[in-house]
Amino acid sequence: MKALILVGGFGTRLRPLTLSVPKPLVDFANKPMILHQIEALKEVGVTEVVLAINYQPEVMLNFLKEFEPKLGIKITCSQETEPLGTAGPLALARDKLVDGSGEPFFVLNSDVISEYPFTELVNFHKSHGGEVTIMVTKVDEPSKYGVVVMEEETRRVERFVEKPKIFVGNKINAGIYLLNPSVLDRIELRPTSIEKEVFPKIASDQKLYAMDLPGFWMDIGQPKDYVTGLGLYLNSLRKKSPSKLAFGPHMIGNVLVHESASIGEGCLIGPDVAIGPGCVVESGVRLSRCTVMRGARIKNHSCISSSIIGWHSTVGQWARIENMTILGEDVHVGDEVYTNGGVVLPHKEIKSDILKPEIVM
Ligand code: GDD
Ligand code: MG
Repeated sequence: MKALILVGGFGTRLRPLTLSVPKPLVDFANKPMILHQIEALKEVGVTEVVLAINYQPEVMLNFLKEFEPKLGIKITCSQETEPLGTAGPLALARDKLVDGSGEPFFVLNSDVISEYPFTELVNFHKSHGGEVTIMVTKVDEPSKYGVVVMEEETRRVERFVEKPKIFVGNKINAGIYLLNPSVLDRIELRPTSIEKEVFPKIASDQKLYAMDLPGFWMDIGQPKDYVTGLGLYLNSLRKKSPSKLAFGPHMIGNVLVHESASIGEGCLIGPDVAIGPGCVVESGVRLSRCTVMRGARIKNHSCISSSIIGWHSTVGQWARIENMTILGEDVHVGDEVYTNGGVVLPHKEIKSDILKPEIVM
């Protein structure tokens, strides 16, 4: 089987991290978001993944060169010369996706995490005879998503409404689909939204079906959801492969520490923390609900909560970083500095306190 991952979009909501790499390459739980997806696709027997990209192709291609041989799966790029939205890229990649076998193919948004129950998805798809299956999940704030109204018994979707302004339901599109090749006949090669233009039409033709996504789900394309998503992911990892989590008297709840990271004396770490490759956490540090990305250094007695520390950044001694502070790549926070929700662009040095949430250029 084949799969296409929608990798375009500028990832503006995840700035400043996406100023350094395209959103799908932002690390999540110590590896690029998109790797979680590619690995899961490989596990169900997908032989080729097409990445639909529209900007920073060099960065993406370098990633491919590194991971294609490591993963043992064919990964190719389909590059747009103008952003084609969420449907146009399917038309562009048509020849890569269809091989005459009539087999359905996967389509994924690149910023959604879950346990990716692809086998269940394939089985369900075969059972209903429709053209498309989308996975759906329940959320509290459906207006940020595509909402489906469906017939519970038959699982047929009656209406698909993208980002509804008035409440239509709380079951939303999880951004994970299985499509029959015939769907490509419905999509023209131009900027098109699959959510606004394609799904509503297929729903009215009674060919759109929905499967409840078992387990957790999160769109991690925004800092707050990214941090929450890490908690959900680690919780699921605890159930599936507990040995991957760190344990010991200084760990609270679920904590992931890369084997090449070092942790000093007298720290207290967790819950819901990921510490990436090559990180150095010095002594007496307190970390909770946060991600520390590759190569970062957290100096003695600093305290970080509900925040993301970008690649190769440093946090000074006795510093306090909290409330959705996001440090871009290579940011340096001085000793004793306090940041409350600061969003700091790459390569900055922070010498004085950031007292309220703001962007620091
Ligand atoms: N190749 C390409 N070209 N990809 C694109 C483009 C484009 O022009 N525009 C967006 N994408 C990719 C994004 O990178 C992302 O992986 C996916 O398409 C969805 O775009 P988002 O910008 O993340 O959309 P969203 O989060 O507001 O809404 C979508 O996801 C929700 C679930 O997280 C919709 O599919 C909703 O219906 C859904 O509920
Ligand atoms: Mg999204």
